[in-house]
Amino acid sequence: MQTKYNDNILYFDDYNLLDVALINKTPFYLYSQNKIVENFKDYETAFSENNHLICYSVKANSNLKILSILAKLGSGFDIVSGGELHRVLEVGGDPSKIVFSGVGKTEDEIRLAISNDILCFNVESLEELKTINSLAIEMKKTANISIRVNPSIDIKTHPYIATGMKDNKFGVDEKEIVSFYEEAGLCEGLKITGIDFHIGSQITEISPYKEALEKVCKIIKKLSDKNIKIGHIDIGGGLGILYNDEKLPSKVDFVDSITNIIKPFGLKILIEPGRSIVGNAGLLISKVLYTKTTPTKNFAIVDAGMNDLIRPPLYNAYHNIKEVFKSGLKPLVYDVVGPVCESSDFLGKERLLCLSSGDFIAVENVGAYGYVLASNYNTRLKPAEFIIIDKKILLIREAETINQVLENEKTCL
Ligand code: LLP
Repeated sequence: MQTKYNDNILYFDDYNLLDVALINKTPFYLYSQNKIVENFKDYETAFSENNHLICYSVKANSNLKILSILAKLGSGFDIVSGGELHRVLEVGGDPSKIVFSGVGKTEDEIRLAISNDILCFNVESLEELKTINSLAIEMKKTANISIRVNPSIDIKTHPYIATGMKDNKFGVDEKEIVSFYEEAGLCEGLKITGIDFHIGSQITEISPYKEALEKVCKIIKKLSDKNIKIGHIDIGGGLGILYNDEKLPSKVDFVDSITNIIKPFGLKILIEPGRSIVGNAGLLISKVLYTKTTPTKNFAIVDAGMNDLIRPPLYNAYHNIKEVFKSGLKPLVYDVVGPVCESSDFLGKERLLCLSSGDFIAVENVGAYGYVLASNYNTRLKPAEFIIIDKKILLIREAETINQVLENEKTCL
């Protein structure tokens, strides 16, 4: 993460966080354009020797400004809904660089994607394949498709974010995949262009990718024996990031290991990174409302809750928490908790911090799967988002207002 102290004040991308916290209503998310660009370019450099396309996974952080930064860098996009497609189109993203993933694409979403001539549908079931085919025929178009393999491998990540295991709802079983392609070959509305897989998120080792790739390469050989030709392989999401004390390979080592396996096939490589593009480029800034000591614990009660950042309770995820200003107070071990009426409402447990009411904290590495998972639970309003660009702070989403939240419910009062 890019934060560091100078004179006891925390800086992010060289920006004084105390300044920004004092003048804006907390909680809010704050991103760094520099970090996003650097993360994207690291992948570009690592892949530069290969025919490739980076399709940023919109679900990780779908703020329009962030999508626009990535679109300007030439990024493609991995989407999972019509809503995400609208977002990418809104910022001028190139539809011919969009892949559409997900097990439950609706007919409306499929039509929208076909009419925009997206790069590829990553198909997850036979019924979906047939639906895309008939809609394409009806629209007098051809839809490009790839079929998602479920490589059935064991992955060391939180079970909720592993997607390539046998029991997961994702992809098509290795044994069935060739017949799926044969079926696709018979569909007039479809053009087979690729093969894809996604094994899970926050993966910090290269070996599961290798294991999955070896299986997928065997499938590609079988397809080629049946004269079914594909032009690209999509390896799904990117590397995990450093939240705590993980050991992480470099992007170059990760990409080299993958490209070495794929090279002999002469295919274009697609990757759909989300977390590793925006994860370490975001902070959540929050204010300590109260401190409280019980017989067993010290609590710092802050104004951000699980509705703003659900990763700690949902995945037991660790996010580093720092004081925005380090006072001379004696540090205490705190559970940092929010105002939501649930015991699962915590941002971090047992953290050694110097805090008193009115102080600010920065929760690190929340650029991915942070704001996008925010909710209105307890009728709490979703926070604002800012970004640092050229040492200036830009508001990229207004904080929600109570009227916006209530408006859609005033249907029959
Ligand atoms: N492609 C597909 C098909 C995906 O399902 C995902 C993430 C990605 C790409 C991006 O993966 P990444 O590069 O970000 O690892 N909310 C969870 C993460 C859920 C990930 C779901 N799929 C979290 O906060 O950890």
